[in-house]
Amino acid sequence: MTLAAKAAMAGAVSTNDSAANRPAKRFHVKSFGCQMNVYDSERMGDLLSAEGMTAVDSAEAADVVVLNTCHIREKAAEKLYSDIGRLRRPRADGSRPTIVAAGCVAQAEGAEIAARAPDVDVIVGPLAYHRLPQLLEQARQQRAIDIDMPPVPKFDALPARRIRQASAFLTVQEGCDKFCTFCVVPYTRGPETSRPAADLLREAEGLVARGVKEITLLGQNVNAYHGGLNLAGLIRALAAIDGLERIRYTTSHPRDMDDDLIAAHAEVEKLMPYLHLPVQSGSSRILKAMNRAHTRESYLATLARLRAARPDIALSGDFIVGFPGETEADFEATLRIVAEVGYAAAFSFKYSIRPGTPAATMADQVPEDVKEERLARLQAEIARQSLAFNQASIGRRCTVLLERPGRKPGQLIGKTPWLQSAVVSLPGAAIGDLVAVEIVGAMPNSVDTIPLSPSESAAA
Ligand code: SAH
Ligand code: SF4
Ligand code: F3S
Repeated sequence: MTLAAKAAMAGAVSTNDSAANRPAKRFHVKSFGCQMNVYDSERMGDLLSAEGMTAVDSAEAADVVVLNTCHIREKAAEKLYSDIGRLRRPRADGSRPTIVAAGCVAQAEGAEIAARAPDVDVIVGPLAYHRLPQLLEQARQQRAIDIDMPPVPKFDALPARRIRQASAFLTVQEGCDKFCTFCVVPYTRGPETSRPAADLLREAEGLVARGVKEITLLGQNVNAYHGGLNLAGLIRALAAIDGLERIRYTTSHPRDMDDDLIAAHAEVEKLMPYLHLPVQSGSSRILKAMNRAHTRESYLATLARLRAARPDIALSGDFIVGFPGETEADFEATLRIVAEVGYAAAFSFKYSIRPGTPAATMADQVPEDVKEERLARLQAEIARQSLAFNQASIGRRCTVLLERPGRKPGQLIGKTPWLQSAVVSLPGAAIGDLVAVEIVGAMPNSVDTIPLSPSESAAA
């Protein structure tokens, strides 16, 4: 469908007589979703900056507000409408910003947004946002909608990265063909595609030239990457970039943890000893209903191979409680796998019905109060495990990449190799520095450190 046809489908001609009709100068992008959504937000920022616009920290001060939405659970999607409600109210000077609904809700519910929120000026999906400047131009006349999944990859059309941070995301793979029965991602991000390795090496070199020391490779199924190299090959090629100190990747699917990638964890020093490998449930029966293509046993076997390759590897995961048909016994299998694995961290969610996915219409939906109760028990177990992980790391010497100021004066917060938040007090240290420390204290969500002297850090 052409843009004009889509605009006609949307019906409404934008009637606001303020921001949409004058050249917009200041923009604000708000992310609601996963790390890839954050990457996309940065890239939309790069696009608008390349148009001569300026990023501002608050939506209130912006002429263009991009709401980069997430559709993964019902609550995430609802946030869009409450934000639109707030933004559409006229400001003191009578103006209101141009509102862009971007991201996975825009992709999945573009027509519904158009009907429900006439004040939205642009609706753009995650595979079409490279056209944002043209859509904004078009929105000066009438609402613009672009939720195509174009054959031309958006990445070729994006300008150079502008971020200045110690740690940066880099999308290497997008989309998913796995169709877990609970999940919207295959519908919002389209089929799995990998970016060519040469493009990624170029983007990574550009990031390192801007001072980036850590790159996290992103993909909905990042370990299924196949852009000329496999993921292990890409990691090895990235590790050769001088000045790049740390490499991470997320999110992996247990099915695609191949021998080469596991070997990379043993060999590549810059590859951090941390892996987010969602299992979703500890019950093989539920995993089958989820169409996860792994069992409890095959997942544990994969972890055993990883730990043999890299004994200090820290693990994290995602869990869904209350998937249709989940019994108390299934749930207890999930609690047991958490204790057995000893996760350093984990994310857990109540199953959320996503219209259009197979699980939405499965029998035996679990009542809300049962989901609540299971989630609380699971989160208590996860908290116990992450505290135990942090406690077990006391005495370890490692580096911390400093990312932001701490709560107390003189403190900085950064990440250990195992992705723990670490508090560092080191006079003269600055954000972006990689400092050597010893871990001396453990809290549930962070560790305390003391800096090592230069001679100690050489020995560490
Ligand atoms: N690609 C990743 C996950 C992407 S979504 C993977 O394969 O694991 C991030 C997490 O959101 C999922 O791991 C899952 O735990 C959770 N999630 C996805 N759909 C959900 C739903 N319908 N209800 C609750 N949680 C969900
Ligand atoms: Fe969703 Fe499953 Fe694909 Fe992950 S692998 S994005 S959970 S469908
Ligand atoms: Fe959400 Fe889309 Fe990411 S649904 S989790 S923003 S891929």
